[in-house]
Formats: sequence, structure tokens, C-alpha cells
Amino acid sequence: MQAYRASIVHFLDDPDSVASDDCYQYFADGVLVVADGKVVSLGPAEQVLAELDAAVPVKEYPDGLIMPGFVDTHIHYPQTEMIAAYGEQLLQWLETYTFPVEKQFSDLEYARSIADRFLNELLRNGTTTALVFGSVHKQSVDAFFEACEQRNLRMIAGKVMMDRNAPDYVLDTPESSYADSKALIKKWHGRGRLRYAVTPRFAPTSTPQQLLLAGQLLKEHPGVYLHTHMSENADEVVWVEELFPHSDHYLHTYDEAGLLGRRSVFAHCIHLNDEEWSRLAQTQSNIAFCPSSNLFLGSGLFNLKRAVAEDIAVGLGTDVGGGTSFSLLRTMAEAYKVQQLRGEKLTPLKAFYLATLGGARALDLDSLIGNFAPDKEADFIVIDKASTELMQFRLQHCKDLLELLFVIAILGDDRSVKETYSGGALVHDRDHGLGCT
Ligand code: GUN
Ligand code: ZN
Repeated sequence: MQAYRASIVHFLDDPDSVASDDCYQYFADGVLVVADGKVVSLGPAEQVLAELDAAVPVKEYPDGLIMPGFVDTHIHYPQTEMIAAYGEQLLQWLETYTFPVEKQFSDLEYARSIADRFLNELLRNGTTTALVFGSVHKQSVDAFFEACEQRNLRMIAGKVMMDRNAPDYVLDTPESSYADSKALIKKWHGRGRLRYAVTPRFAPTSTPQQLLLAGQLLKEHPGVYLHTHMSENADEVVWVEELFPHSDHYLHTYDEAGLLGRRSVFAHCIHLNDEEWSRLAQTQSNIAFCPSSNLFLGSGLFNLKRAVAEDIAVGLGTDVGGGTSFSLLRTMAEAYKVQQLRGEKLTPLKAFYLATLGGARALDLDSLIGNFAPDKEADFIVIDKASTELMQFRLQHCKDLLELLFVIAILGDDRSVKETYSGGALVHDRDHGLGCT
């Protein structure tokens, strides 16, 4: 057993569905007690320490703010090396930069080296769970899950399925994508803290036959996820209309194949029509809102207000390498700016909710992670409120928790994450090197 003493904040519910005072708990001086990788208890320091066995060690963080680990609901690990690629919007960007980079993941050793670097970046930024695209190569997912297993991380990933409209060197076939995905599901889904996502890249790079086989995989393996892109870019939407002349709209191409549902996550969803919004809601499908990517690739401004009105679960996604940062703090800042451009407000409570419990809900993982309810997995981070001189100075002028959270979201990045814990184990220590335990 181990106790951690700092300011502590976590969410109990969505700020849009309950009164804002009821959606979170905050302890200015709190203690989080962890044993066997799980949360035991949480509360004001005075009370928890009075009840705690004196033999339990207490780690103290005078400038710390403890919160649940961040959940990134959409990211591509093979794109780590091409983050910040200049000048193109989605379709040209894929051809110019993405496909040539992803080609390299046919090499297992190469994939292993990038998986390692990628996970270091996630943990450095306080992200403990992510929904992750591999490449088209089966071995890319083996390399990724092996690296996650070594660190005991809760992760979801899958092999990309793509059988048309890309260079031969990143294409599979309907049959091989089905067989490879099936073998990966058998090997990895439910092994330790790992889960599998059936991952057709997006409608333009899959034939209707491949999408049907993706649906068949979901039917044959209840509990596996569906992860894809949806209605990100205006040219992409027009292209889908041309490629699927018999479908009513973009979402219909997925719906016809049985790809919608509680464990389905659609990245972007910027250019949706009314029918698509309703159908996502009806099927309890989820959306990954990826603001830094949407700005960087010039894709558009996500309508978060509409998603809230439709009661669709939304999480935040960095979408690296279309996105420009691994940091969910930076992503919150970009989300705030996107909503400003729409004339809407993203409150600090909603931003941190989306990055923690909201993301866990969008991934149907909220019974396991996302907040500090007793028995949940002890995935948490220690934010350093004094991480930069400017942050320290600015925070002296904060009057309450909401302002504190807002400033951390707007000014924060990987420097703000002092420590990251996964399953109760220290997996990133900013001041003593990565992976130090
Ligand atoms: N749509 C299809 N593939 C991709 C990708 O790799 N990144 C993004 N942002 N959108 C996509
Ligand atoms: Zn993406």
C-alpha cells in the first residue's frame, strides 16, 4: 500500500449533465491511497491520514495536483516520426507523407523502436490510455502490444485495414485483412490490460467488401472495438459520395457494414448532416474530437455543442501525426480555441472531464479507469503547478480551482507532468528519467 498527498481533482460525471458542483471532487490537501494497482480511498488529508496505518508510506507533493491519467481517444503510433509535416490538407498529406512513413512498419524491429519511443512520449505527457492506429502490417500491432504489455498499460489498438486507393506497399486484401485481424484479436484482445480495435482506415481506402468483413469481425468477437475516421475533410466527403454512389451519406458506408455501436469510435466527425448525427446517437457510437489535427490539416471546426445536444459520448484525440502534440493539455487548449472560433465556450471542467472520465466513457472503459472511484485501476498523474516560471507566476493570481485548471490547460504541456503512474507503478518521472520505478 502507498499513499500520495497533494491537491487532488477528479470527475464523477459530465459537467453538461449534472450541476457543476456535483460533477467533480477537489481536495486542496488530499490523499490518494493505492494498493495492488487499484485505488483504495481518497479524501481530505486530515481525515485519510487519521485512518491510515502509520506504516503506509506517504509521498508528498507540495506543488502537485494529482488527477487521473489522460485518455487519448485517437492517435497513430506509426506517425510519430512525421508529426509536423508541412503544407498539405488530408488527402495530399496522406499521399505525400503518411503512406511512405507507414511502409516501414513491415519491419518488426523498426516497429518496436517506434513503439517504444511513442509510449515514452505518451507517458511523458501524462497519457495512460489511448486508442491507437497501427499500420497495415500485422507485426506493427504485435510490436505495439508487446511494448504496452512490458509497461502494464491499458491500451486499445488495431491493424489498419486498407485495400484500395493507396500505394500497393500499404495495401492488404479483404481476405488477408480479415485473417490478420482475427489472428491479432485471438492473440491480444483481453490479454492483461490490452484490447483490440478493428481498424479500417476510412471509407475511401476500403472496398465495401472489406468493410463488410470488418463488420463480420465485430460480430464474431463481441467486445472488440471499431476505430476509424469519419467526415474529417470536405474533399474526403465528396470522394466518399463518388466511391459509394448507393450509400445515403458517409456514415451509411459504415452503417451498412454493421460498424456502428457502443464500442465504435469515429475520429473527427466535422462535416456531418442531420441524419449522421442522429444515427451516431441512436447507435451509441462515440466521437474523438481532435482539435490540433483539425486546425493543422485545415479540416474544420468540430461542433461539440451539437454532440452534447445529441448526447453522443466525445473524447479528446491528439491524432498525432495529423495532430501537432502528444499533450492532452495542449489539446485542451486547441479545443478551447476551436470552440471560440465557433462562438462557443469550452469550460475548464469540461476540458478536463473530456481528457479523463469523458475519454474513458467514449472507450467504454469507465468501469475501470477515468476517475478515483474505489477499485478503479490506479492510473494517475502528478501535475507540477510550478513547472515553469510563467505558470508559477500566473497561478499566484488564480482565485479558484476553475481558474487554476484553465491556466494549466492553456499554458501546460509535457513539462507540467511531473510523474505518471500506471496500475500503481511509476512509469514516468520527469526529474529522474523515463521509466524510472
Ligand atoms: N484519414 C485517413 N487516414 C488518416 C490519417 O492517417 N490521419 C488522419 N488525420 N485522417 C485520416
Ligand atoms: Zn487519425
